[in-house]
Amino acid sequence: MSSAPVHSQLGSVRRPIVAANWKMHTTPTEARDLAVKISEAITDAPGVELVICPPAISLYNVRKALDSTIGVGAQNIYWKDAGPFTGEISAAMLVGVCEYAIIGHSERRQHFGETDEAVHLKVRAALTHGLTPIVCVGETLAQREAGQTNDLIAYQVRGALHGISPEELSSVVMAYEPVWAIGTGIAASGDDANAVALRIRSVLESIGGSDAAQAVRIQYGGSVTAANAAEFLSQAEIDGALVGGASLKPLEFAAIVQAAAARIV
Ligand code: PGA
Repeated sequence: MSSAPVHSQLGSVRRPIVAANWKMHTTPTEARDLAVKISEAITDAPGVELVICPPAISLYNVRKALDSTIGVGAQNIYWKDAGPFTGEISAAMLVGVCEYAIIGHSERRQHFGETDEAVHLKVRAALTHGLTPIVCVGETLAQREAGQTNDLIAYQVRGALHGISPEELSSVVMAYEPVWAIGTGIAASGDDANAVALRIRSVLESIGGSDAAQAVRIQYGGSVTAANAAEFLSQAEIDGALVGGASLKPLEFAAIVQAAAARIV
C-alpha cells in the first residue's frame, strides 16, 4: 500500500469545519449545479473549512465544478485498495478526486451492517491514502433513554480509532450525530451535544494523548438548520456541523456556515 502524508493538526488552533452530506440525493447534473450554487451563496467565511459530500457518482463532477477552497468528500469508502469487491469504491481510487470521507455514518451502520471494526478499517484506509476521515458516532433513542450514551460513544470512538498514532488522530474529524436527531427535525440541545463532545474528547485523549485530542475537530450533526446552528456552533467543544437536509438548500447552508464563521474571533 502506498502511504500519503497525514494532515496533522497537532499544535493547530481548531478551525471550524462544516460539511454537507447530500446522502442519496441529486443526479450528477443536479449535484454540479448545487455545488456551484452553494459556492456562490457562501461569500464571506474565509476561516471555515467547507466540505461537500455528494453521492459517489458525482464526486468527480463536483470536484471539477469547485475551486480548491472548498473540499469534497465521499460518503463511504471500502478499506481494500482493489480487488473482487463488486460495487465498492476504495480510498485509493479517490485520491485526486476528493479529500475527505465520511465514515461510519449511522445510516451505514443501520442499513448496511457496518460494524465498529469495519469503521476502523475504513479510517485506517482513509489515513493511509491521505483522505481526512469524518468519523460519525451517536446513540439511538433507546440507548439515550437507557442512560447508555456515554458508554456507547466511548465504545464507538475506541472501536474506530484504537491504535492510531497521535499525529494521525489529530487529523481526524469527529461527528457526533445522535441517531434520533438525524432527519427528524428534533435536534439535540446545544448543552447536551457539548457534553457528548466533551466525552468524545476525553476518549480521544485516552487514545492519543491530550495534544492530539485538543486538535481534533468535533462536529455536531442531526437536524442542523440555519435557525439552530448557532446554538451548536457557540459551544466550546463543538467545532463544526455535519449537515444533511439543510445542505441541499444553498442559502440555508450558507447561513449555517456563517454561524461557524462567528466562532472565529
Ligand atoms: P440531517 O442529517 O441534517 O438531515 O438530520 C445529518 C446527517 O445525517 O449527517
